[in-house]
Amino acid sequence: MKKKSDATGKENAQRLPRHVGIIMDGNGRWARKRGKPRSLGHKEGLEAAKRVVKTAADIGLRYLSVFAFSTENWSRTEKEVSYLMFLVKKHLRAEYEFYKANNIRLVYSGDLTGLRRDIAADIRAATEETAHFQGLTLNIVLNYGGRDEIVRAVKRWRKAGQPPLTERNFYRYLDQPTMPDLDLLIRSGGEKRISNFLLWQSSYAELYFSDKLWPDWQGDDLREAIRDFQKRERRFGRVS
Ligand code: IPE
Ligand code: IPE
Ligand code: MG
Repeated sequence: MKKKSDATGKENAQRLPRHVGIIMDGNGRWARKRGKPRSLGHKEGLEAAKRVVKTAADIGLRYLSVFAFSTENWSRTEKEVSYLMFLVKKHLRAEYEFYKANNIRLVYSGDLTGLRRDIAADIRAATEETAHFQGLTLNIVLNYGGRDEIVRAVKRWRKAGQPPLTERNFYRYLDQPTMPDLDLLIRSGGEKRISNFLLWQSSYAELYFSDKLWPDWQGDDLREAIRDFQKRERRFGRVS
């Protein structure tokens, strides 16, 4: 059943999810519907990402993780993969003024070693250049797979001399050890699956699926997802 959206249109600033993750899906279908190449969908998808990130910063969200490229996405055509990498390369550092104006700090999740060397260097530079901004932390999730992250975490733990390991301290070996668990996981584009996104961090995330294709997303769609989240009762295994 479809829920009616909140008439006031305003989320409760006191009860914001601390960490929101978005699987930005539907770029290819958005383009196909218009008889355009998939690349145009990705280009428009990037514009949507900027709108939504800006809204997240305006709302006062602390952490936002956006899934930009999965370890599985390498199996797309070489043309599509290069276009996606071109977009990353073109925008990452060029958006410095946008990050500055919105006080956004960039961080990264994924396997940098599997990326082209110049792109990996740009990611490092962008995270360093924005490290002092204290508003929204924007986690770029790129060349990322949830299982891959867990395996890399275990390798870090091994390298650290295999100290006692518990469910509570395992996070230290993850890509972003200081980021809290996901509270709200959003997926656009109609599919109802996780597709290997932040597996460890989303164990108790509230899930929000939207049929709207990612390039059609506006800031208000994020606000609506947050309002939906604010109506839910999170029990974490307890009785209410
Ligand atoms: C999401 O859109 C963007 C990436 C995976 C990089 P898709 O490219 O998966 O678009 P659809 O799902 O084919 O419509
Ligand atoms: C998930 O979307 C990955 C990103 C949004 C970056 P996909 O389009 O790759 O996921 P599947 O293949 O439909 O599961
Ligand atoms: Mg897809």
